[in-house]
Amino acid sequence: MLLIKGFLLLAGAQSVFAKCRCAPTDECWPSTTQWNTLNSTVAGKLIHNQPLAKACYHGPGYSAAECQRVASNWTNEYWIPESPIGYSYPLVDTCPPINASSIAAYPLCELGTSPAYTIRATGADDVAAGIRFARENNVRLVIKNTGHDISQRSQGYGSLSIWTKHVKDGLHFHKQFNYSEGSCPSNWTGSAITIAGGYIWQDAYDFATKHGHVVVGGGDPTVGCIGGFLQGAGHGSLSHEFGLATDQVLEYKVVLASGETVTANACQNADLFTALRGGGGGTFGVVLSATVKTYPSRPTLYHELIVTGLNNNNNHDNTTSSAVLDATARIASKYPALVDEGFAGTAFLFTQESGPWVYSAPLIKFLGDNKDSSSSSNATAIAIAHAKEVMHREILADLLPGNGSEYLVTSEWSTHPSWAAWYASTHHTTAGNNQPLMASRFFGQAVLSGREVELAGLLGVLTTTKNNTTSTAKVGEGSSSSSTTVLFNLVSGGKVANDVRYTSVNPAWRDAYLLLQTVDMAPANADAEEVQALKADLTTRKLKAMKDLAPGTGTYLNEADPYDPDWRQDWFGEWYEQLVAIKKKYDPEGVFWCWRCVGNEGWEEVTGSALFGPLCQVD
Ligand SMILES: Cc1cc2nc3c(=O)[nH]c(=O)nc-3n(C[C@H](O)[C@H](O)[C@H](O)COP(=O)(O)OP(=O)(O)OC[C@H]3O[C@@H](n4cnc5c(N)ncnc54)[C@H](O)[C@@H]3O)c2cc1C
Ligand SMILES: *[C@@H]1O[C@H](CO)[C@@H](O)[C@H](O)[C@H]1NC(C)=O
Ligand SMILES: *[C@@H]1O[C@H](CO)[C@@H](O)[C@H](O)[C@H]1NC(C)=O
Ligand SMILES: *[C@@H]1O[C@H](CO)[C@@H](O)[C@H](O)[C@H]1NC(C)=O
Ligand SMILES: *[C@@H]1O[C@H](CO)[C@@H](O)[C@H](O)[C@H]1NC(C)=O
Ligand SMILES: *[C@@H]1O[C@H](CO)[C@@H](O)[C@H](O)[C@H]1NC(C)=O
Ligand SMILES: *[C@@H]1O[C@H](CO)[C@@H](O)[C@H](O)[C@H]1NC(C)=O
Ligand SMILES: *[C@@H]1O[C@H](CO)[C@@H](O)[C@H](O)[C@H]1NC(C)=O
Ligand SMILES: *[C@@H]1O[C@H](CO)[C@@H](O)[C@H](O)[C@H]1NC(C)=O
Ligand SMILES: *[C@@H]1O[C@H](CO)[C@@H](O)[C@H](O)[C@H]1NC(C)=O
Ligand SMILES: *[C@@H]1O[C@H](CO)[C@@H](O)[C@H](O)[C@H]1NC(C)=O
Repeated sequence: MLLIKGFLLLAGAQSVFAKCRCAPTDECWPSTTQWNTLNSTVAGKLIHNQPLAKACYHGPGYSAAECQRVASNWTNEYWIPESPIGYSYPLVDTCPPINASSIAAYPLCELGTSPAYTIRATGADDVAAGIRFARENNVRLVIKNTGHDISQRSQGYGSLSIWTKHVKDGLHFHKQFNYSEGSCPSNWTGSAITIAGGYIWQDAYDFATKHGHVVVGGGDPTVGCIGGFLQGAGHGSLSHEFGLATDQVLEYKVVLASGETVTANACQNADLFTALRGGGGGTFGVVLSATVKTYPSRPTLYHELIVTGLNNNNNHDNTTSSAVLDATARIASKYPALVDEGFAGTAFLFTQESGPWVYSAPLIKFLGDNKDSSSSSNATAIAIAHAKEVMHREILADLLPGNGSEYLVTSEWSTHPSWAAWYASTHHTTAGNNQPLMASRFFGQAVLSGREVELAGLLGVLTTTKNNTTSTAKVGEGSSSSSTTVLFNLVSGGKVANDVRYTSVNPAWRDAYLLLQTVDMAPANADAEEVQALKADLTTRKLKAMKDLAPGTGTYLNEADPYDPDWRQDWFGEWYEQLVAIKKKYDPEGVFWCWRCVGNEGWEEVTGSALFGPLCQVD
């Protein structure tokens, strides 16, 4: 064994790697003087990162009070993105805010996969300066917006990070949008907004609402607009009605690997435009603004269905005995009918501390156009009546016979004058700082309709957790064991099914009726080995069960199992090779690199037996 750059590698491994990006422990790492020069170039916006929870560890900087402050904010989804190295879902956490009394479990606090330096960019010049510095000094470069990514794509050991959250050139409303340059007509005669910087969806929703419009964004108001979300597809409660968020993009402003800022739309750099509409963030360039379609606001119908198990009969060794799981499977088999009726949103199957299984489905239907007030109020009433009739016929009629004996059913309707009024009235999923283990899969009509038996079997697999193939299932028994939430994203069908030009999203999106997602949480006190066992179980058993039931589909790259060995095929489908060609055209030197991103072939993070390590060229 040989110690290279502080990490254990196999003897002889070094010669395999022709070239590595300079890491902080390397002699080639830029000097303080060089970093200071960069700092001057970016007008003092360079940050030398320190682990967030450094104060929790003995040594210089130890402070119980500061540690307490960090620990109490650790799962705050507004606090995390404020830090240049705040990541909601670190796959590797090398400095958690632990109580120093139990420090033996974590002897070191290190930056780990967090960037070494961050440019708190406020415009194209800062971005270009960062790119130039990384290229000239052979330093790894990453792009970060909110840090919400679940596949570590906005992180990198020993990297310089370009942080786009503080680019704030405003939100701009266009009654009618024309391309900034170029001659071809956009064909879009509706309105649009330009999101010029690191805004989050809550900002965009508020802005569109002020103009009486809606915009297709995420379910969580804290997800960033123009980063990984928009570039990777983007779904929410309005995607069914209008198409994926990325389908709405009319134009991007992008800083390329060359440092040049360009416009990408259907007329200029159309290949780059296509790649940035579905190919994922972090690898084609640094997006500074996006112009997206907006639509007049309309009344919104809301239905909340909750099915709560009775008498705690969570016999997890025999999941077929769970009435709520069976009911959920029957409901899922009817999703095509609900989706075709326009119901959209995300339903959840979960348990609370030792409690029964609960299926909760907060769904909306975006109601009809209200232009002609006299006849349309009748049209709205007819649409509401029809939606209720479908919900009763497809779902409630089947559920109600078991109400009171097997489970408790609540079914509530409300109408809201606008989508924004509905959004403001409900609770949304939130990001914190935790390590969920996630896997997902698209399900088409044929694998849902009439397949309640198979779906119940799948839910049985997803809601049990095994240490390894022989151990007994153990789920939802409180914080000392792992827990599972199954998410049923009804965010496609409708306009998502329309194939649109200049898009590179996984074609499987167009046929999907359901994006099924499972999220496991390791027990709070789990050690690395246990977490590893859970990850392996997720990929080899749970994801496999999803694939077996829905073969040949794929999934959404932003909500996928990063350990899926078939990620290229499953996340990009037939688009992958074309995306690589576009990546090579716009970034021939591979300045931008991220794990699980298009065109990352030829480079690998060499970790040896450590949790992180330098980025090296491999043959
Ligand atoms: C709580 C929560 C809820 C979510 N809900 C939804 C949802 O409803 N619908 C949905 O579709 N997705 C949802 N997601 C997934 C979300 O789309 C991804 O996490 C996405 O990657 C977040 O993008 P970001 O830019 O905010 O995050 P970051 O982690 O900052 O970046 C993600 C990726 O984009 C790159 N990137 C960031 N900014 C730029 C830029 N300016 N230019 C180029 N590349 C950039 C990064 O390098 C990285 O590769 C949710 C995530 C969370 C945490
Ligand atoms: C960059 O300059 C600013 C302002 O002078 C300073 O506050 C900051 O600490 C510097 N950053 C680094 C990494 O030295
Ligand atoms: C962090 O938590 C403390 C409570 O411990 C709270 O007072 C503070 O406002 C929180 N936020 C920040 C940014 O520190
Ligand atoms: C840390 O542990 C010590 C000793 O067990 C205990 O007294 C203290 O309250 C703990 N602090 C926190 C923040 O939990
Ligand atoms: C866009 O172009 C059309 C047709 O050329 C023109 O009539 C319209 O005024 C332009 N709109 C804006 C906002 O420039
Ligand atoms: C507008 O529509 C025409 C006709 O369908 C098409 O040829 C052209 O490419 C479209 N333009 C854009 C920008 O999509
Ligand atoms: C599980 O429960 C179902 C329904 O109660 C029953 O038919 C089945 O035999 C049980 N299976 C096992 C292995 O106990
Ligand atoms: C609504 O329209 C239907 C037919 O479309 C009609 O039969 C009905 O009377 C109308 N109701 C009202 C209140 O206008
Ligand atoms: C289910 O039964 C409960 C208790 O009997 C009742 O309050 C509730 O209204 C029923 N649910 C529906 C949707 O009818
Ligand atoms: C795995 O099994 C061991 C031994 O049975 C147990 O202590 C541990 O909690 C289990 N881990 C998980 C994640 O279930
Ligand atoms: C896996 O199962 C075997 C028995 O088949 C057991 O000896 C071993 O401890 C288990 N591993 C874990 C990590 O629980």
